[in-house]
Amino acid sequence: MNKRIYLCLAHMSGKEQDFIKEAFETNWVVPLGPNVNAFEEELKNFIGENKEVVALSAGTAAIHLGLIQLGVQAGDEVICQSFTFCASANPVTYLGAIPVFVDSEEDTWNMDPVLLEEAIKDRIRKTGKKPKAILPVHLYGMPAKMDEICAIATHYDIPILEDAAEALGSEYKGRKCGTFGKFGALSFNGNKMITTSGGGALIVADEATKKQTMFYATQAREAFPHYQHEKIGYNYRMSNICAGIGRGQMTVLEDHIAHHRHVHSLYEKGFEGFKGITLKSNPNDCFNANYWLCTILIDPELTGTNYEEVRVKLDAVGIETRPLWKPMHLQPVFAVNPCYVNGVSEKLFNIGLCIPAGPWVTDEDVSYIVEQIRLCCTR
Ligand SMILES: Cc1ncc(COP(=O)(O)O)c(C=O)c1O
Repeated sequence: MNKRIYLCLAHMSGKEQDFIKEAFETNWVVPLGPNVNAFEEELKNFIGENKEVVALSAGTAAIHLGLIQLGVQAGDEVICQSFTFCASANPVTYLGAIPVFVDSEEDTWNMDPVLLEEAIKDRIRKTGKKPKAILPVHLYGMPAKMDEICAIATHYDIPILEDAAEALGSEYKGRKCGTFGKFGALSFNGNKMITTSGGGALIVADEATKKQTMFYATQAREAFPHYQHEKIGYNYRMSNICAGIGRGQMTVLEDHIAHHRHVHSLYEKGFEGFKGITLKSNPNDCFNANYWLCTILIDPELTGTNYEEVRVKLDAVGIETRPLWKPMHLQPVFAVNPCYVNGVSEKLFNIGLCIPAGPWVTDEDVSYIVEQIRLCCTR
């Protein structure tokens, strides 16, 4: 095989150019316009649950604006899943607030509800005040245990902001990820389920919150003929050109999701009975991951190899893989942040690998990848 197989490359429907062309022809080359409105409407219909959607320049911006609207301020604490990409936690620090990290459970690799409750109690004991928000992540598209997390959030009356950046189309008990919390963040970065080249969206409860989100996303300009500002705003709106790409991508979103799930099912067959390699799968019928990236755990004892050796060997035969996210509580930049840890995410980080799953990955590619991983194992 001489082509290179990537983790998850952007994949166009072919219709993107039509929407972009229309934007140029009508001179809507600005961060608002018909493509933005239509993309939001299509996302809203896809997400369901009577939610509203605001298209933004990035998933990170969506998290930032969600936190602002939850009233997070300097000195506040926000409970954040530790096992994630840094973009879940960074916006907390933009506000001068403090991410408090909570480890994962084994079933979904997401926020451990037991540790979450321990963390809330301990923060109240230590600081005399409640954390301002809870930020669970649906990592690699696997839904977090939302029943348990929502029950704790309700009990302590702390709002949830879901990071569903990797989980567009994933469902928990038949409901789309990103719709459980007060806010949900999506990402349309180049490597996600769909792309707008770069972009994101905030899922919000109603029309009024949508208006408020748009206000913060457009420099918080008040309703005056002149430019009047009473709050600090941001330049976070999605461009009408990017939204044109998004509209084209919406025509293949269901196909992309089906393809990621198909690739996962092929890996499932490929790794069946393969001692020492465990493919991450839905723990039970409540969970319906989009399998944005497929992930495996490599047991060094049983395979005679490890994730880094496998990564280097696969790279040499044209297969891109990546270690699992390094937990935030192990990141130097968050070394002094409070954390509630059970060893799960650290263990996963030390034995896990993301393997290709995107729209370009063919059935033959999966056979080749499984075969090459087999060749890496010496036991
Ligand atoms: C878990 C997670 N959160 C947040 C983000 C941020 O999204 P964006 O890159 O669109 O800012 C990403 C992706 O990049 C992500 O994987």
